[in-house]
Amino acid sequence: MKYMGHKGKLLNFLGDILIAESKNSRSIADPFCGSGAVSWFLAENTQKSIVSGDLQEFAICRAAAVTQRTAPIDAIKIYKPWLKRAHRLLSKITEKFPNAESSVEPDPNKTDNIIRLVLRSRVFCETVLPEILKGLRRQFPMTKAYGGHYFSPLQALLLDSLRSTLPTNEQERSVALAALIETASRCAASPGHTAQPFQPTTTSAKYILEAWQRPIDRLLIEATTAISLKHASLVGRATTGDFMATINSLEEGDLVFADPPYSDVHYSRFYHVLETLVKGVEIEVTGRGRYPDITERPSSRFSLKAQSKFAASDLIETCFNKKLGLVLTFPSGNASNGLSAQDFIQMGKNRYSSIEQYEVSSDFSTLGGNSKSRSARLMCQESIVCFRL
Ligand SMILES: C[S@@+](CC[C@H](N)C(=O)[O-])C[C@H]1O[C@@H](n2cnc3c(N)ncnc32)[C@H](O)[C@@H]1O
Repeated sequence: MKYMGHKGKLLNFLGDILIAESKNSRSIADPFCGSGAVSWFLAENTQKSIVSGDLQEFAICRAAAVTQRTAPIDAIKIYKPWLKRAHRLLSKITEKFPNAESSVEPDPNKTDNIIRLVLRSRVFCETVLPEILKGLRRQFPMTKAYGGHYFSPLQALLLDSLRSTLPTNEQERSVALAALIETASRCAASPGHTAQPFQPTTTSAKYILEAWQRPIDRLLIEATTAISLKHASLVGRATTGDFMATINSLEEGDLVFADPPYSDVHYSRFYHVLETLVKGVEIEVTGRGRYPDITERPSSRFSLKAQSKFAASDLIETCFNKKLGLVLTFPSGNASNGLSAQDFIQMGKNRYSSIEQYEVSSDFSTLGGNSKSRSARLMCQESIVCFRL
């Protein structure tokens, strides 16, 4: 899954380090688990129990789908009946619009046509659909908040239908929800995250059409199949919450892999669409990004410049006091939240008996541009730092 700052691309090197550093640990924690890429890797490649945490609920659903299961699961048994249930629900809506399936096909070379389609779709989702959906007594948060923006009306209705017809068996439901998150993230008409959808302008209209034509069913089957094959050796835990709660749940000798935010913009601003999907409850949204109210979006001390140093020091101090090993990834140079890998190293210096720093080149997201550069991606040195007791 595309995720800002995800460490999937570093796992060739980082994975070996985590395996070596955890050789005497019973559990390994991933308290900033994000896309779940590292939690999944650790679950599949170690005999340890993986303890995942994140402020965002969708991140926990992703991690849990693999770390809490110790055998593969039959994907066909999940998606066949699930797609059937969802399409049955969807057809109760589309049967009221006999040509709905064919209406999203303007000539991709005629920008004016695409723009008109997008604007019509927005009006349709805001004014026509809500009346029809009322009768179904279900929640349609994706359609009402994001239909005509991040998703075509039909995509949004299908995502809602899939969300409200998830399997009831716990393990099947967990895999299904993780696959649904991945599918929504791959279909969103936005640049890799969901801070703002593409707007129907002369330059961006074609990207909207291209995203709206992405096949939800096929992507869902692919994601379900891939996730269902992955599993852990030991059952892990995955809990939504602050990193301190995850770390405090560990035992002496366990290992923490810490990949905290480096940006002064909160992650929750960029991933609210996936969070809404997981919660499955209708919300009020505002602004170009169609954001839920700020009080509904988790805020991180790591993304507040005035607090980021205290958060970093809590991380180092708590790991040390609880006698936990720590592997940290962080940009080597100054990041926009005011921290660098060196700050963490300084904090650990008089505590941990050995600190080893590796540097790797990485391009990282500036979360849509920063004060120095409007480019959304920058090359940087990323540090992997091992703090040993
Ligand atoms: C750099 S990303 C982690 C990426 C992840 N390692 C991956 O490979 O996808 C940082 C994550 O920390 C989460 N986060 C931010 N502040 C947090 C906090 N105080 N406690 C727990 N998680 C937090 C964000 O939601 C985000 O998912």
